[in-house]
Amino acid sequence: MHLNTKIREGSFELTSCSRRLQRWCVALASCITLAAQAQTGPGASNVQELQVQLWAASCMACHGPQGRAEGTGLTIGGRDANELLGRLLAYKLGQRPSTIMSQHAKGYSDDELASIAAYFASLK
Ligand code: HEC
Repeated sequence: MHLNTKIREGSFELTSCSRRLQRWCVALASCITLAAQAQTGPGASNVQELQVQLWAASCMACHGPQGRAEGTGLTIGGRDANELLGRLLAYKLGQRPSTIMSQHAKGYSDDELASIAAYFASLK
């Protein structure tokens, strides 16, 4: 935080410089603040968690809110993580018949699929 303050103080000294430079300094200061928050803010792994939630949100378009597409047979929320991951990997390798899922699964690394499977499993 005090890094940000220092940079902001620095930009006050730049009164003789162009406004463009000042604006750049302010933008840089807020970037540094954001980066600092991403690393040290509440829950350091937040960025990673948000990434997984973002991926999962795209799955929910078809698999329902919280992965619970009631009545369609596509519910994935609250199911066993290993079972979900097994299916996702099988889709990725083309070992499980699918209309759309093999294409989705191919877009993620195995580790990413494991994180997504764990996330849906956690939605009890
Ligand atoms: C465009 C709609 C759509 C999206 C988006 C989608 N799925 Fe699917 N999903 C399906 C369909 C349809 C099936 C049935 C297999 C098939 O036809 O591909 C399926 C099957 C599955 C299955 C197997 C379910 C079972 O009981 O056998 C899992 C697990 C799964 N999807 C996970 C995901 C995950 C994780 C994502 C996001 C990365 C995702 N899906 C995104 C439509 C979708």
